[in-house]
Amino acid sequence: MQVCPELPSPDFSRITVIDMKTLIKTLLLAGGIGVLTQPATLLAQQFSQLDTTFQSIGNQVCATCHGAYGQGNPVVGGPSLAGLEPWYLRSQLEKFRAGWRGAQRDYIPAYEMQATVSNISNAEIDRLVSEVTSWPEPDPEAYSEGNAAHGQQLYTTCATCHGMSAEGNEALKAPALADRDSWYLYRQLNLFKSGFRGGHPDDVTGAQMRASVQVLEDDQAVKDVVAYINSLN
Ligand code: HEC
Ligand code: HEC
Repeated sequence: MQVCPELPSPDFSRITVIDMKTLIKTLLLAGGIGVLTQPATLLAQQFSQLDTTFQSIGNQVCATCHGAYGQGNPVVGGPSLAGLEPWYLRSQLEKFRAGWRGAQRDYIPAYEMQATVSNISNAEIDRLVSEVTSWPEPDPEAYSEGNAAHGQQLYTTCATCHGMSAEGNEALKAPALADRDSWYLYRQLNLFKSGFRGGHPDDVTGAQMRASVQVLEDDQAVKDVVAYINSLN
């Protein structure tokens, strides 16, 4: 397992992180259902054994944490996937598979995502990308925290890579940020700040983003820039 050196603990005091096992226990207590009653590691094992020849991989495995049509599941921290650029979707599946993202046990949601895709083949990635990109893009909710006017000033540096309208820039490998859920953007910015994302020595584009996020000096600045991005939806 890759452990990033000198990792400060992320401040998750304002983030609700519910890991799958807690969720499963809760669901079991509540008389839970179907696939959600299986831990992520079990899901990952089953995923590697699945005969997916005539089946939809996306709906079967990813739906547990990302919703049946990739609309996202904030309870387990699974972001919306529908609407992601195909090149970005592929790059993140490759980063999770390689353990560049999600290899640290201390941040359970990404660790479980990593376990789920650690054995997938290139052909399965191809299929997932074509399936997920065919799903309709969900409408994210409005974000009521943060000062969008201040966020607009902060966003000037972000625009050089992510674009003025947060439309993304494939040449720079910077994804679109508009139309993403604010809870997810807020969490990713904190993960980059703390080094839980972008800290792997081989992750060049992650490191670029990690350096760029340091202009957001405190929690309020993170919220402000998220509020501005949300206003571009
Ligand atoms: C056990 C729950 C779980 C399962 C199953 C799962 N994911 Fe994830 N996935 C997550 C979580 C949680 C994150 C966000 C990780 C973080 O916060 O860094 C994530 C992140 C992602 C991302 C990155 C999105 C972005 O904007 O960077 C992609 C792409 C993704 N998942 C695709 C998939 C696909 C495709 C499948 C099915 C093969 C799948 N996931 C199955 C939990 C899961
Ligand atoms: C030097 C170019 C660059 C700058 C400047 C930059 N980013 Fe990024 N950003 C990236 C790249 C490249 C990625 C993809 C990283 C990866 O592959 O993991 C990224 C990823 C992200 C993500 C994760 C998206 C997802 O779906 O998980 C967020 C959120 C983000 N950037 C927000 C910002 C904000 C806010 C700023 C300004 C404070 C900013 N970025 C400045 C290049 C940049």
